[in-house]
Amino acid sequence: MKTQTLAQDRLRWINLDLDLPKIDDGSDVIQGLTQTPKTLPCKYFYDDRGSELFEQITDLPEYYPTRTEQSILETYVSEIIALTGACELIELGSGSSRKTHTLLTAYSQLEDPLHYYPIDVSAGILRSTALDLLATYPQLNVCGVAGTYERALAQLPPRIIENRMLMFLGSTMGNLDDRSRDIFLNQVQQALQPGEFFLLGVDLQKPIDILEAAYNDVQGVTAAFNLNVLHHLNDRFDGNFNLDNFAHLAFFNPTASQIEMHLKSSIDQTVKLKALDLEISLKFGETIHTEISRKFNLPTLTDTLTAHALQPLKIWTDPQSWFGLILCQRQCLLSNDCP
Ligand code: SAH
Ligand code: AVI
Repeated sequence: MKTQTLAQDRLRWINLDLDLPKIDDGSDVIQGLTQTPKTLPCKYFYDDRGSELFEQITDLPEYYPTRTEQSILETYVSEIIALTGACELIELGSGSSRKTHTLLTAYSQLEDPLHYYPIDVSAGILRSTALDLLATYPQLNVCGVAGTYERALAQLPPRIIENRMLMFLGSTMGNLDDRSRDIFLNQVQQALQPGEFFLLGVDLQKPIDILEAAYNDVQGVTAAFNLNVLHHLNDRFDGNFNLDNFAHLAFFNPTASQIEMHLKSSIDQTVKLKALDLEISLKFGETIHTEISRKFNLPTLTDTLTAHALQPLKIWTDPQSWFGLILCQRQCLLSNDCP
């Protein structure tokens, strides 16, 4: 069909895993599961089922971040566009790109051609989302990047138009610990030229009962999402985790201002991941730390961003100040860094 052919002309794929197969070899799983306490990188939540479960989480009554960020985007999208003008949109951890529609609709009303680069480790949702977007926006060009944003940021495709905006929504930056966040912000700084933009969505501090309810929903979707990491590891590394032998645990750690998710072993057990040549033992009550979800303080975060040459131009929040959306502009570091 003609429309399909035209849509394909506007679509490109970059698969970073195929380019560099050896890097994603599970060494991070071995490292995490052989240390004390045991940990797992949170990117392993996201296979097809994990992405689907995350989508269900975003609709839960207890999970306020998605709908709150969506309302901020809807209220302030014309201000965002007035500040940035036309630009290429590069989204890190794009998932279903659901909230991005608000931006794509507004940017597509500008005269310039629109280029969108969704980057995600979860290749299935990346692919289906890209196809949906092409069908929705006739003038949109999509280049889907399958791989980690850490790797993608180091090798972004050359600019097609002069101005770029990197977007990191949903408070996914809250899933990085201090050291990873620092490395990540350095990468953002290096990926952008002076004058370009970084749009960051962050979850903010609020009463503990609201935070803990958001990660302990009554329907048990977050528990299923947490447990799915074990299913993903079984699939990917030929493992024999029995999900019935683990329980979901999520609580707020006030010292670090973060929700922590863990999987608690309900028996003494031994688990194998054959493809990694790994056998681990867990005692009754022992936990695997699967995620942190940092809850930010805006003044502190503003200082952190500024220290990485990412100057906040504008910060928007909802009426309850539950979620923040920050538009930063990459500053010059040295005189020879400037155009
Ligand atoms: N941005 C969306 C989705 C957030 S869920 C929103 O705001 O609702 C986090 C997304 O990041 C998932 O789609 C997951 O697959 C992706 N992700 C997690 N770790 C990643 C990594 N290291 N590199 C690339 N994508 C990652
Ligand atoms: C993607 N990330 C920002 C979500 C969060 O809230 O930290 C992942 C999530 N974990 C449990 N529920 C949702």
